[in-house]
Amino acid sequence: MDNFIIEGGNPLCGEVEISGAKNAVLGIIPAAILCSCSSKIDNVPDIRDVHKIVNILEKLGAEIYREGDTLIINTEMPISYDCSEYEEETGKMRASYYLLGALLGRYHKAVVPLPGGCNIGDRPIDQHIKGFEALGAKVVIEHGQVKMEAERLVGADIYLDVVSVGATINIMLAAVRAEGQTIIENAAKEPHIVDVANFLNLMGAKIKGAGTDTIKITGVEEMHGCEYSVVPDQITTGTYMMAAAATRGNVLIKKAIPKHMEAITAKLREMGVQVIEEEEGIRVIGTDAPLKGCKVKTLPYPGFPTDLQQPMAILMTLAEGQSVITESIFENRFKYVDELRKMGANITVNGRVANITGVPKLSGTKIRATDLRAGAAMVIAGLVAEGETRISDIHYIDRGYEKLEENIRNLGGSIRRETVPDVVLD
Ligand code: UD1
Repeated sequence: MDNFIIEGGNPLCGEVEISGAKNAVLGIIPAAILCSCSSKIDNVPDIRDVHKIVNILEKLGAEIYREGDTLIINTEMPISYDCSEYEEETGKMRASYYLLGALLGRYHKAVVPLPGGCNIGDRPIDQHIKGFEALGAKVVIEHGQVKMEAERLVGADIYLDVVSVGATINIMLAAVRAEGQTIIENAAKEPHIVDVANFLNLMGAKIKGAGTDTIKITGVEEMHGCEYSVVPDQITTGTYMMAAAATRGNVLIKKAIPKHMEAITAKLREMGVQVIEEEEGIRVIGTDAPLKGCKVKTLPYPGFPTDLQQPMAILMTLAEGQSVITESIFENRFKYVDELRKMGANITVNGRVANITGVPKLSGTKIRATDLRAGAAMVIAGLVAEGETRISDIHYIDRGYEKLEENIRNLGGSIRRETVPDVVLD
């Protein structure tokens, strides 16, 4: 159980390079098992969730090699469709649900324990199941396992009742190997959906419309290996943008894709932060004047991402006047507020709305990361706080941020990792 120890007060200045997108690569790695082939995936982030999905696939029989940020996934030999024994591994991450779509697509059968992931509210997978059933699968959930089997997979028209990133990707994974055409209506449009679709198309799939709310997939009988480079991470980019703004620094975020960041850029500018598009990425320059309070409502892409409302809360805490966050995606995503209050934040939460009154400063203390993105927010809070902040439960942060402390130190922040040995009771 590691802790981060942060000494606040240094503005972040310099350059940081963004790694591949967690939520894209966690769809792409399972997608690579859709054929008996070998694929090479570049720009794979070195994060715990990637280690976990790789570990599960290896247990299923895939051969996977890692060299630097490249993964080679070889599934020329048949792999197992049954993950029931790996509940321990699948239960620790959300994206293990992509094994359902990928195994169904390849073998017309899958047994996968229900997924885990951050506890940020009710996270049903009914839309995933609805999609698989529409494609012809019989689905049973028993003893914590999702069991699916289809004699044939046949393309279908599927309308998602809620805009879901996971369901959109999962249905794509199965539908690329179904007979005929599948249309997903009310699909999610996040950059990682486009990235998974691009990877599948390079493998021989026929997907059109990814990035819009109607995705058309014509099933193919054969797919083949390919070489692909994962898109830079939108959420990591946003996290560094906010860290630069909160510490009143000046950071060039290399490889950032401005188009993916429009909602964040607009809000930062509204608060008085300079965001400049440069050839190599996005530069964020904090303001010497007080930040201005603002309102944010989380929405599916291209709206403001739910994964960035927590880092945004730190900026709002430091801004003049009143700010408001309305969380419209997950109903339990304000658990971090108690931790911020320990640092002096003035936040009241009423259901899905957080009202934030700006305070002159935050002060360092012992806090804990309550989930992955809340953990990133705690790091930013520590960087701006007076004195020392000690963050526990940083295993959440390790799930999704590559080399976070190294990057922050390179930018001039003071952060170190303290390894606390697990207590063994006999
Ligand atoms: C994914 C991301 C997560 C991000 C979220 C929203 C991964 C591994 N995780 O999570 O980081 O915060 O998108 O951008 O990519 N819903 C249903 N039924 C379903 C599926 C979803 O009701 O079958 C609801 C959810 O409860 C939620 C909303 O739809 O209210 C959006 O969820 P979804 O986009 O599916 O999020 P995840 O795939 O879990």
